[in-house]
Amino acid sequence: MTNIAILGFGTVGSGVYEAISRCSKKPLNEVNIKYILDLRTFPDHPLADRVTTDFDKILNDESVSVVVETMGGDGVAYKFSLAALKAGKNVVTSNKAVVDKFGRELEEAAKENGVVYLYEASVGGGIPIIAPLNDCFASDDIVRVAGILNGTTNYILTHMQSEGKSLEEALKSAQELGYAEADPHADLAGLDSARKIAILAGIAFDKYISYESIPHIEGIENVTSEDIRLAEQLGCVIRLVAVAKRVGDKASILVAPHLVGNTSLFHAIREAFNAVSVTGSVVGEVVFYGQGAGSLPTAAAVCGDIERVIDGKVSARVRNNCEDGFVLSIDKDDSRFITLSNGKKYRYFE
Ligand code: HSE
Repeated sequence: MTNIAILGFGTVGSGVYEAISRCSKKPLNEVNIKYILDLRTFPDHPLADRVTTDFDKILNDESVSVVVETMGGDGVAYKFSLAALKAGKNVVTSNKAVVDKFGRELEEAAKENGVVYLYEASVGGGIPIIAPLNDCFASDDIVRVAGILNGTTNYILTHMQSEGKSLEEALKSAQELGYAEADPHADLAGLDSARKIAILAGIAFDKYISYESIPHIEGIENVTSEDIRLAEQLGCVIRLVAVAKRVGDKASILVAPHLVGNTSLFHAIREAFNAVSVTGSVVGEVVFYGQGAGSLPTAAAVCGDIERVIDGKVSARVRNNCEDGFVLSIDKDDSRFITLSNGKKYRYFE
């Protein structure tokens, strides 16, 4: 029996409870959710008696070996994660903001304390991508990681195209389905995708890269229904794509709406699905596809990390710092542009 605590019982935290309750396989079916930390109460929930507002109770309980941080934000979530690692507890999270900002410090703290800090759920929802990047591609030089990494914007672009919905109408549905961030500006403006590509590029290029070093982060706010229609006439869809490319000993990283032609697998990515393409110098291109947002898919990634902790399949890793100038400025970007018949220019993804 492994005792865990879930910090934050929102979309992902409650999904973790649901995923654990449904699981019939060891070791997850032997996990006991001993505490749920939340400011709210859940009087009708089967685990209502486990809900607490007192983090110290969790910290001081030596029987809790895994803390699941699904709070969001980079304030309290970071403080609690650090405290848990220092107390010798493994931390598993879906929180890309904390991973982006404090990943190095938290991974160092994990290493010093003989535990791990895992964040598979922070990128790509239910798609396993961080563990494969860390393990399966470990002996290959990665030359490109690219992804449709934001479910909300992909859902919006899909519904603007298929049903002629406005961006606002499609956003409202994405919010109702639990895909969007608390502040959907992070989705629409490309910040969420930027955090995710920074995390992936960091692992791929063995450095800590913050999204703040990405020189071009453009969202979908200026994509119009007309653009989508004109793109269709060229056999393309418009998708928000994040791209990190190796350029010599440096990297080019950007987030922008791209025209995607039907020769790319990304052309078929609809709704809130995500896809990640990893190109290794030996293996060539490998594409991962799955549900990039939502309660249960994200919870599935969290549960995969919990399982890896329990089975002892992972050890703490610490990467290098990102030296100044490693991420190239946008004037070095060699993207190919295509001009639509209304005069608007889009990068082309291939
Ligand atoms: N808002 C995010 C998205 C949630 O839409 O992809 C998953 O990270």
